[in-house]
Amino acid sequence: MSLLVVKGIEKSYGANRAVSGLSFSLDRGEMIALIGPNGAGKSTTFNMLNGQILPDRGDIQFKAQSIIGCSPRQTWQAGISRTFQVAQTFGSLTLAQNVQMALLSAHAKLFSFWQSARHYQRDKALELLRSVDLHTQADKPCANLAYGDVKRLELAIALANAPTLLLMDEPTAGMSARERNNLMALTHQLVNDRRDTENGLAVLFTEHNMDVVFEHAHRVLVMAQGELIAQGPPKEIRENTLVKSVYLGGGSFPRESAW
Ligand SMILES: Nc1ncnc2c1ncn2[C@@H]1O[C@H](COP(=O)(O)OP(=O)(O)O)[C@@H](O)[C@H]1O
Ligand SMILES: [Mg+2]
Repeated sequence: MSLLVVKGIEKSYGANRAVSGLSFSLDRGEMIALIGPNGAGKSTTFNMLNGQILPDRGDIQFKAQSIIGCSPRQTWQAGISRTFQVAQTFGSLTLAQNVQMALLSAHAKLFSFWQSARHYQRDKALELLRSVDLHTQADKPCANLAYGDVKRLELAIALANAPTLLLMDEPTAGMSARERNNLMALTHQLVNDRRDTENGLAVLFTEHNMDVVFEHAHRVLVMAQGELIAQGPPKEIRENTLVKSVYLGGGSFPRESAW
């Protein structure tokens, strides 16, 4: 049984069917790109997967159990994590402290003062920072980080609850082509490193740069107007005439953020 099985999920906003009869599955060790033009339904899909939005119909099974009706907190505790923007208020904390906060939250520890939590799981926090290559900056305040580093910190924070499924909706927005490639190469590395271990990780990500998608995705899911129109390995998708026609009337894929 796959880690994640999505069966015919739908979500409408009034007469607008944002996601329509979407089915796919995902295994541990897979890094999958969800692509499609703006408005295709990618973010709505992410929001249904983590419990932010309740589907109108269909089922989502994670580790062989339906998670329909679970809150984002509950899906997170079950092992579904998503990258999110580092809260502004944590800018004065160091990188290590930001990750420690995430670890505190993952283990549902409540401290009345930050003081008492200062030493909480610092080693684990440093290990997570090391996995995204930020350990040398552990004691710097977050506010001083370069943008590409903030994105890697977000990744470390998302990994704090030892997720089995990591959702990354446009993780590279605002990054240069080189930074994009670096972040997704790092994620790819994390997936490969944990393959066949008990920490096996699956990643579902959206990305506008097709070079990055084709280089790092094991499989590509293509959505248009709420529907899944194709799925397969990057090589196949690149040659898929239906997919090409959706974007450029049969032309080649855009290289940079055209969609
Ligand atoms: N909260 C909302 N209220 C109304 N319509 C929405 C809402 N969220 C998304 N939509 C609509 O659903 C469709 C899919 O949007 P979205 O999932 O954000 O697409 P994508 O992430 O692929 O760009 C679009 O037509 C969008 O306008
Ligand atoms: Mg979106």
